[in-house]
Amino acid sequence: MLDIKITKTTTPKEKPAKGAALGFGRIFTDHMFIMNYTEGKGWHDARIEPYHNLELSPASMVFHYGQEMFEGLKAYRNGDAAYLFRPDMNAKRANASNERLCIPEIPEEYFVEAVKELVKVDKDWIPTDEGTSLYIRPFVIATDDFLGVAPSKTYMFIVILSPSGAYYASGLAPVGIWIEDEYVRAVKGGMGFAKTGGNYAASLIAQVKAHDGGYSQVLWLDGVERKYIEEVGAMNIFFKINGKIVTPMLNGSILPGITRNSVIQVCKSWGYEVEERKISVDELVAAAKNGSLEEVFGTGTAAVISPVGKLRYVDDVMEIGGGKIGELTQKLYDTITGIQWGKTEDPFGWRVEL
Ligand code: PLP
Ligand code: COI
Repeated sequence: MLDIKITKTTTPKEKPAKGAALGFGRIFTDHMFIMNYTEGKGWHDARIEPYHNLELSPASMVFHYGQEMFEGLKAYRNGDAAYLFRPDMNAKRANASNERLCIPEIPEEYFVEAVKELVKVDKDWIPTDEGTSLYIRPFVIATDDFLGVAPSKTYMFIVILSPSGAYYASGLAPVGIWIEDEYVRAVKGGMGFAKTGGNYAASLIAQVKAHDGGYSQVLWLDGVERKYIEEVGAMNIFFKINGKIVTPMLNGSILPGITRNSVIQVCKSWGYEVEERKISVDELVAAAKNGSLEEVFGTGTAAVISPVGKLRYVDDVMEIGGGKIGELTQKLYDTITGIQWGKTEDPFGWRVEL
């Protein structure tokens, strides 16, 4: 059990009005969770405080060498009830990232408790409009003031909350994806499987290119041969080819998405054959050309299930589904969000009530 000291704000902020356009990740709630780590002492001083700026030495290691880990999950509101979706998976993945980044392990129960307690304190911030939720961002930063390259001996684990709408400005409408043929995001042996800022810093230049070309996000190819499909900037990717569900296998350079894992289980329970394997971009282009590429969608906490309507690779522009949301894509969206929102049965036991 984590002993959390709670100090509530005396000046609560105004909450967004019902029906207000929330965007993604721009509004923050009244409180935050903080816990410190000191070598020899472990994690200590767990507390929930009014949301505030941090005071850090400019020499804090996180600013220089990027030793940080972050997670992303959501809380959903249904009447008086509020739910989390598989938070234990985020806790596990946080520690997989921590291990790769030489950040000390956070006991899973501390991680889940920190998230639960903070969301309980700011429960009234969980938006209720269709398609909205409370985005939860747990993260760890290295805080030693030292310019040598080495693992820090002190850290802060922080959780902040942001009432959010759809990740893509277009909402649940097919997005255009740019298959990047010049830059790469990660290679096996690197940090691709970890959720850490550096991976996203590495992605920005290609994202700017994609936006300039009129596309929403980048689909990465493998970093060695630039031939095999990896994942999108903020989601994993799935293809329905000839009735089968195909998604890149977890190979060390892509993020093991929790939505990805959930979609695979749901599809299998519906009797679909799901293949986790290497998929070359050539196979994809050929499938698009011969009509066997039936649906494409991305999966992620922020993006939920996101239909892909167009894929660009060098000179090939592949239109998928005639601008419409695919049948399976829509069914998965309805099923996953139904479980998350507490509107349907939860046959997998994924929902955690607060
Ligand atoms: N891939 C990347 C690079 C991401 O940032 C995300 C989002 O978290 C995902 C995949 C999807 O992961 P999850 O479903 O756990 O949110
Ligand atoms: C998430 O889906 O939780 C993410 O972290 C995506 C993001 C990088 C905005």
